[in-house]
Amino acid sequence: MKIALVYSSVTGNTKDVIYILKGLLQFHKMEVTAVQVGDFPLAKLAKYDAIVIGTYTWGNGEIPHEMWPLYKAFETQDVKNIITGVVGTGDRFYPHFCGAVDEFRDMLFVHTVLAATLKIELTPQLQDLRQCQKFAESLMGKLLKSH
Ligand SMILES: Cc1cc2nc3c(=O)[nH]c(=O)nc-3n(C[C@H](O)[C@H](O)[C@H](O)COP(=O)(O)O)c2cc1C
Repeated sequence: MKIALVYSSVTGNTKDVIYILKGLLQFHKMEVTAVQVGDFPLAKLAKYDAIVIGTYTWGNGEIPHEMWPLYKAFETQDVKNIITGVVGTGDRFYPHFCGAVDEFRDMLFVHTVLAATLKIELTPQLQDLRQCQKFAESLMGKLLKSH
């Protein structure tokens, strides 16, 4: 089964989380690709069995501008059978911690089979590993149930 991890990351925090998740999902013998959102072919989301979105949060709890084409692709394609998850890093200093994760979560819940969400404070720490494992397990659980 094919899983894509599509992310955007400026200072590397979100990328770090994505690569932790990639390792955990590969452990389940899945075909896993991690790709920056700008390099991801948006036209055929449905060729993946599962898609994980990785996003930081910008402005005042907002989705970064480069993630909007992906957001809109989910809204406009037939993605109702795709298993999804959204993970993000943010900073609790801001009033809307990981707001972009909430935005994606609400949309994915409507249009896809949303399996898991995860918010991490800045760079992932050892104690975040358990949450990453749970995220990967939830995704795998839904994926195996659907096939
Ligand atoms: C201008 C600016 C605005 C930000 N706004 C938010 C925000 O509203 N909520 C939040 O949780 N984090 C916010 N952040 C923090 C980033 O999302 C956080 O540093 C994130 O880990 C960066 O991810 P990256 O290393 O993958 O680029 C903001 C950071 C900057 C520089």
